[in-house]
Amino acid sequence: MFEHLASVVPDPILGLMAAFRADTDPRKVDLGIGVYRDEDGNTPVPAAVRSAERALLASQKTKSYVGPAGNPGFNQAMEQLVFGAAHPAVTGGRVRSVQTPGGCGALRLGAELIRAAAPDSVVHVSTPTWANHTPLLAGSGLRLERYPYFDATTGGVQFAAMMAAVQRLPPRAVLLVHASCHNPTGADLSTEQWRELLEVVRRRELLPFIDMAYQGLGEGLDADAFGLRLFCAELPEVLCAVSCSKNFGLYRERTGSLHLVSPSPAAADAALSQLVRIARGIWSMPPDHGAAIVHAVLAEQTLRAQWLAELEGMRRRIVELRLEVVQQLRRHCPQRDFGFIARQRGMFSFFGIETAQVQALRQRHHVYMTDDSRMNIAGLRRGNLEYFAQAVSQTLAA
Ligand code: LMR
Repeated sequence: MFEHLASVVPDPILGLMAAFRADTDPRKVDLGIGVYRDEDGNTPVPAAVRSAERALLASQKTKSYVGPAGNPGFNQAMEQLVFGAAHPAVTGGRVRSVQTPGGCGALRLGAELIRAAAPDSVVHVSTPTWANHTPLLAGSGLRLERYPYFDATTGGVQFAAMMAAVQRLPPRAVLLVHASCHNPTGADLSTEQWRELLEVVRRRELLPFIDMAYQGLGEGLDADAFGLRLFCAELPEVLCAVSCSKNFGLYRERTGSLHLVSPSPAAADAALSQLVRIARGIWSMPPDHGAAIVHAVLAEQTLRAQWLAELEGMRRRIVELRLEVVQQLRRHCPQRDFGFIARQRGMFSFFGIETAQVQALRQRHHVYMTDDSRMNIAGLRRGNLEYFAQAVSQTLAA
């Protein structure tokens, strides 16, 4: 049966990860896959996560099933983290939450729910958007279209063009937006822009699908969820896909959640039953370990405080790296303005160089970023900043 299948090229991000691992040059710099790295180039397990994990392993008495909606304590703790204290949608009983295998699982589950409710729905994604949005959302059978987003001349958001496109969308169109730390560009909406977008979404009766994979790594836990909280307070229906990969360092444990805001508690219950049915048909039950850790970290005051401090340390490091790389680039490539990197947030920036230059950086200098010139700022460190800036300077001059 399978002998007729043609091979496919690897996902660009995963292909780059494999190429970096195979590179034996000691100077190599990984700005590819979106994982946080410390000054030694490691992706650490946060100490709070490690402590919670140790306690969990010591106390766990069974590995029996948890259930298709996952760990209720985790789901509740995630609602608090994502929506903040006393959010009106939560207190009004309009939110239902399901634990998922990572943010990817949440995106797919949300897409499957949309497909079950309205099979002809079109999901509108930003130009550009995270490469994996396409297989995750279109894989459920939904059609994808694009709206303008990134302004390469300023490194910010092309807000007027975005709004013009959103204003033309038909009622019930799905609008996928990144809550913060936009992947791949690092260009986020301001609070004022979120408010303006809300009015159009409300008027056009669109369904927002909000992807939040980097809460706490942009401006802070609350600021990064500003748009999500605003939309969920003001609109009858919203889907939110959340990842714990980056802010808890739980990448391979596949930990995430899908939160659905419904017009009424009864509608929320019905939708939850559908989510549970769909999850049962895909992964049956989500993996437990990561969610149990997150629940323990968020529930225990000391661990929570430790995690908050660690997360803030990661966030500050990224902000500082943004400032430092701009300084280095100013010194080594004075002919070009890279100041936009300091204005962007989260792990990524769109560097704005040609694909041939990206490839030259990789081949001649062992600096890895995706072909579209997305770079993971957290892959830089004080020890390689100057090497990176010199490599860019030589590449641009070639
Ligand atoms: C990324 O964008 O690099 C990360 O979210 C990892 C992934 O799965 O692509």
